[in-house]
Amino acid sequence: MNPVAPSAFASTPRAAGAGPQLVQCHRENLTEVRRELSAGLNAAHAYTSPKFLYDALGSLLFEAITLLPEYYPTRTEADILSVNARAIAQAIGAVDTLVDLGAGNCAKALHLIPSLQPQRYVGVDISVDFLEKGLAEVQHQHPQMAITGLGLDFSSALSMPADIVQGRPVFFYPGSSIGNFTPEQAAVFLASVQGQAREGGLLIGVDLIKDTAWLEPAYDDALGVTAAFNLNLLRHLNRLIDSNFDPRDWRHVAYFNRSASRIEMHLEAQRALVVRWPQGERKFEAGERLHTENSYKYSIEGFAALLQSSGFARSRCWVDARGWFAVFWAQG
Ligand code: AVJ
Repeated sequence: MNPVAPSAFASTPRAAGAGPQLVQCHRENLTEVRRELSAGLNAAHAYTSPKFLYDALGSLLFEAITLLPEYYPTRTEADILSVNARAIAQAIGAVDTLVDLGAGNCAKALHLIPSLQPQRYVGVDISVDFLEKGLAEVQHQHPQMAITGLGLDFSSALSMPADIVQGRPVFFYPGSSIGNFTPEQAAVFLASVQGQAREGGLLIGVDLIKDTAWLEPAYDDALGVTAAFNLNLLRHLNRLIDSNFDPRDWRHVAYFNRSASRIEMHLEAQRALVVRWPQGERKFEAGERLHTENSYKYSIEGFAALLQSSGFARSRCWVDARGWFAVFWAQG
């Protein structure tokens, strides 16, 4: 891995066959992370951002979740994209730059590229390190394509460095990751994408409201993989702030809060305990919870309205036969 500064990227001509260009913009600020975590842990209802679920093991556990029979979103979205590949490509039209938000191993984009045929591919993730293998595979399968890996934290708003997106861009935000934002935050995020979409647009996966009997097992599976994913957050926190969480003291809790239209994940203290770290401490009563994730679910009409309020003039969507998941194309 050999990241270059964004300024160097803009002015450096790339030789054909040079392989993916890597640009790391985001720098992890440990002081800021510690402040953020302390504030959340000390809140009346303790909470942590879902981004802390994804250390190395957390990312592997999430990959395992996507293979579980109970976790329908990944598989359903892939089916929608493959069944409707031609119609989607036709609706989108010519693509200059495909911008893959949260690209990871780039597997989803690899399925999309043959039908969209973009000139350029930009994989975005918090760290270019996560992208290296995926980008190499994209380059291997598409030797003529210009490929960039961009390390960017787009969890508050998307601000791409100038010159990275050329021509008509299509932003791809799959997996219903938009569900981690509150609807208000989602509107801000979508508006920031819309502001950069110009003549292009956004292809986005959205998980839909459905019966609790289908929603809850997807976040509380029989093998306990999601429980491990949630509990692993505590070890990640221990490494980040030198706290003394013991995963054995906590239990995974996930349920659908229908009035807020979201799955909530929590960790529940199994006994009264005190968590300590160098800058502070937090008492938990038995049964008290740490809120670790929200995953919002939308109706088709609700999400279409959100896109419109974010400035997207027109949108359409494709849905699976059960009406469980939607893929929206929103025109800039
Ligand atoms: C990656 C945010 C889309 O909300 O379904 C899966 C994360 N959490 N199981 C989701 C998750 C528990 C996932 N997203």
